Amino acid sequence: MEEREIQVGLLGLGTVGTGVASIIKHHQETLSHQIGRKIVIKRALVKDKKKVRESWLSNLELTENANDIIEDPSIEAVIEVMGGIEETRLLVERALKEKKHVITANKDLMAEHGSTLLQMANEQKCDLFYEASVAGGIPIIRTISEGLSADKLTKIMGIVNGTTNYMLTKMSANNRTFDDVLLEAQELGYAEADPTADVDGIDAARKMAILSSLAFSSPVQIEDVSVKGIRQVSDVDLAFCQQLGYTMKLIGVAQKDEGQIEVRVEPTLLPNAHPLANVHNEFNAVLVHGEAVGETMFYGPGAGSLPTATAVVSDLVAVMKNMQRRVNGYSYQTPLFQSTFKTEDEIQSQYFIRLHVYDRAGTFAAVTNLFAQHDVSFEKLLQLPLENQTELAEIVLVTHSSSVAIIKKLLIALNQLSAVDKVASYYRVEGGE
Ligand SMILES: NC(=O)c1ccc[n+]([C@@H]2O[C@H](COP(=O)([O-])OP(=O)(O)OC[C@H]3O[C@@H](n4cnc5c(N)ncnc54)[C@H](OP(=O)(O)O)[C@@H]3O)[C@@H](O)[C@H]2O)c1
Repeated sequence: MEEREIQVGLLGLGTVGTGVASIIKHHQETLSHQIGRKIVIKRALVKDKKKVRESWLSNLELTENANDIIEDPSIEAVIEVMGGIEETRLLVERALKEKKHVITANKDLMAEHGSTLLQMANEQKCDLFYEASVAGGIPIIRTISEGLSADKLTKIMGIVNGTTNYMLTKMSANNRTFDDVLLEAQELGYAEADPTADVDGIDAARKMAILSSLAFSSPVQIEDVSVKGIRQVSDVDLAFCQQLGYTMKLIGVAQKDEGQIEVRVEPTLLPNAHPLANVHNEFNAVLVHGEAVGETMFYGPGAGSLPTATAVVSDLVAVMKNMQRRVNGYSYQTPLFQSTFKTEDEIQSQYFIRLHVYDRAGTFAAVTNLFAQHDVSFEKLLQLPLENQTELAEIVLVTHSSSVAIIKKLLIALNQLSAVDKVASYYRVEGGE
């Protein structure tokens, strides 16, 4: 075994950074057995050196000055686990210019600047790995880029945000409201004080942009992802889902048909027997469909200190194996295809639609006529009196597949129909036909 150590610098020593230090400390023997060198954390960048940290970290040298890591020639690899976008991008660029390999857990950074940074790493003959940026402890990036590299991937469907999955699980199981469950998720540390990125689907959209770029070898930016979060999901919607045999999840879907791509994140109804319908609480799962392999599914913790740190340190092992073989910086490939995105006329889906209608003769016929005029038919339909409303009734239905453009026109027409008080909610349905 080579005696030399590898010195690494940590940018950040929070939840993930502490996990990285812990994995390196506790798994040192098996790590150095694989790579022939001992891993030493030379220094860690923090915002506030005086902050109270776990006592076992007291041997670690801390700095508030990034230059102490970026400009230290003895540091060969930098682990970025501080978060943020612009300041962090500059640090990562500087580290690459100093010919340091970079490992990051930062999906915000990779979704915004991934292609430029990967290209830069390639030019510098450095590795830039980002396994932990999507689905924490599930090795989905390496699965797509290596394990399934021989296949043509056509669809990725995933629950890639643990916070919203936790919230929807609790709302569905216990008939609780969004606000109530959000508060609980914040108290348990599953949701941030500002939950916007999670509940509005932005975090999941960034992860889907990263996964679809890799899976389809086509550049997909966050702006290319159609996003809808879970704020408007009500306990009534969830109760009807259950009644009709569905489970609601915040689902990311990336699909490629005849060269055209669609990437979206939205609350989606899945039949109860669908594998993703049975992924509960804060867990993540990703279904990957390839032309040759068919369907494969990957399940596990999407976040958390040690699961995420495992992905980060595994990336470090990959960097070190590449160093042994002197092949760093070659994993990046320029995209093979330009991205062409489907229009709403070309995207087909089933829909769940919930309507408040006036409870009088002719209403049902008026509604069904409008559906017929738009050539949209139903798979399931319920009509019920609306609680505490003598004048109104509720119609809940699931359509057969139709184009998104037609459904949008239909929803506008329904809102204008005199028999309809309002379209109370609508969601896409996956995995039904
Ligand atoms: N937490 C997870 O489960 C998870 C899962 C997957 C990916 N990630 C990603 O991993 C990254 C880190 O997340 P985290 O949860 O570990 O964050 P965190 O607990 O907030 O830790 C951030 C660390 O970075 C330091 N830091 C932040 N801004 C800094 C700055 N401007 N200058 C110097 N130091 C700075 C902080 O210093 P102080 O300690 O002094 O405050 C802290 O040590 C993020 O990109 C996140 O999206 C996290």
